[in-house]
Amino acid sequence: MKIGFGCDHAAIDLKNELIEYMSNKGYDCVDYGTGYDENGEVIKCDYPAKGRQVGEAVVKGDVEYGVLICGTGIGISMSANKVPGVRAAVCSEPYSARLTKQHNNANIIAFGARVVGTELAKMILDEFFGAEFEGGRHQRRVDMISDIEKDYMK
Ligand code: RB5
Repeated sequence: MKIGFGCDHAAIDLKNELIEYMSNKGYDCVDYGTGYDENGEVIKCDYPAKGRQVGEAVVKGDVEYGVLICGTGIGISMSANKVPGVRAAVCSEPYSARLTKQHNNANIIAFGARVVGTELAKMILDEFFGAEFEGGRHQRRVDMISDIEKDYMK
């Protein structure tokens, strides 16, 4: 499975640790940045740009899922959710991470590097990527989310 990772300058180290963690588990991880330049300086990045970039990659099918991290996970997920077809969920604990896949069919998970530590972030990813969308009555509700997008794109 191909997963796109994106973050702003607040979350580079956590993003890099999680790419290593998920790569070691066999996932094909694509790093959309941001990161460090050749002098070890942080490449500054505004979270809306990264939310949009990873959101578009998911919707185009370049990657199946996205992981977005900023200071809180909020701004970057808000930005990704503006891309039609994105369902990005901010989850600071594993229970919500599992449920947002099972019920909301989230295609992007987001959290904050200033909110969760590395080990909790790993648990969040384990729950999210270990869960399956349950379909059924949940599909109808997810379709209703898509209907909102369609109505506003008319
Ligand atoms: C950047 O300082 C911070 O505002 C950003 O990472 C994020 O928390 C926004 O939602």
